[in-house]
Amino acid sequence: MATHRLGIVMHGVTGRMGLNQHLRRSIAALRADGGVVLGNGDRVMPDPLLLGRDESKLAAIGAETGDAYTTDYDAAIGSSEHALFFDAATTLMRPDLLARAIAAGKHLYCEKPVAASLADARMVAAQAERAGVKAGVVMDKLFLPGLIKLAALVSEGFFGRILSVRIDFGYWVFTGEGAPSNRPSWNYRKRDGGGIIFDMMAHWRYVLDRLVAPIRSVVCLGATHVQERWDEAGARYAADADDAAYALLQLDGGIVAQVNSSWCTRVNRDDLAIFQIDGTEGSAVAGLTWCRTQSLVDTPRPVWNPDEPQAAVFRDQWTPYDPDGTYPNGFRAQWEQFIRHLYDAVPWPYTLREGVKGVELAEAALESSRRRAWVDLDRNGP
Ligand SMILES: NC(=O)c1ccc[n+]([C@@H]2O[C@H](COP(=O)([O-])OP(=O)(O)OC[C@H]3O[C@@H](n4cnc5c(N)ncnc54)[C@H](O)[C@@H]3O)[C@@H](O)[C@H]2O)c1
Repeated sequence: MATHRLGIVMHGVTGRMGLNQHLRRSIAALRADGGVVLGNGDRVMPDPLLLGRDESKLAAIGAETGDAYTTDYDAAIGSSEHALFFDAATTLMRPDLLARAIAAGKHLYCEKPVAASLADARMVAAQAERAGVKAGVVMDKLFLPGLIKLAALVSEGFFGRILSVRIDFGYWVFTGEGAPSNRPSWNYRKRDGGGIIFDMMAHWRYVLDRLVAPIRSVVCLGATHVQERWDEAGARYAADADDAAYALLQLDGGIVAQVNSSWCTRVNRDDLAIFQIDGTEGSAVAGLTWCRTQSLVDTPRPVWNPDEPQAAVFRDQWTPYDPDGTYPNGFRAQWEQFIRHLYDAVPWPYTLREGVKGVELAEAALESSRRRAWVDLDRNGP
């Protein structure tokens, strides 16, 4: 069995996602486990070149993982030793970097959103299609064990006719005053590509489209609840990007999704995100790893009686749904699929064009919030 070296230019590894999810938990972990096994038994060994602006940060990461690094963008993107370009840095640079990588004949893999505007996202997807390079976008939520379990219930027909979906996502993001914030400050500045609508709608598009039914329309109210925050250097700045989004979506088949995303809420649910599907034959609710069901026959008949304290413990009326299965880190699982797609003719559903749909929903939600109106998505795709 042969071992193939896959040179990957990795941009953005000094950031949260690039370092923790993509370099450490995916690429370095895959290498430590002997690479990615292909259909014919051959192995692919990823060989990253870490690319970024800050030589000292790159050197420290390179010392940890044993990877080469460079601050020379032209040389890295033009390198014939590296067939794949990966980007998990600021969204604002993404379309330009992807376009340069396409021009250099590289395959692409990148974080969401594909770009900070629909026009840019469409342009880069079209460039990749014209060039015939293989391209993928991270859709990590689909690889969460909780959502894998919900997807299994959907395909089993557990829900009967699906009526509605509720997604409740969020937690408190500290302002950064006095103690560091728990998210990067660019998330709260419009000019840096921040805002929860852009951030989260890119996820909710693929989650709902793939798990439940295609999204047709959105109405969304964005809010900037906290208008003053402190950055990584402790400096106060005006937080002008939306930090909460209250959305309703219409899906095919008359299905309604209520989707709340907030960085200004405190968690009083069983997980940082919960996903509930209600159907005629049953309902299920999932967190990141777990899933619980309540079928029609098990559905209690609650009695509304404000004169007595509630005796029912509603959460106890649900049954854990735990099919056998092992669930590797979702980012790593998607990397493995993408690497197999580069070598084997395995289908790859998470294309750049699919990523463009996330940007389409984000722009539609922003437009809805601005105009205080329902906005339809393009039925033919963006
Ligand atoms: N899939 C997910 O769940 C998920 C979660 C969070 C963020 N993201 C996406 O990942 C990307 C990075 O987000 P993050 O939370 O890791 O942010 P971060 O601030 O931790 O990292 C940003 C990275 O971009 C680099 N960068 C910023 N400006 C640059 C410039 N001018 N030139 C070169 N490099 C520059 C930084 O050095 C850093 O490496 C964003 O596109 C974001 O939308 C995805």
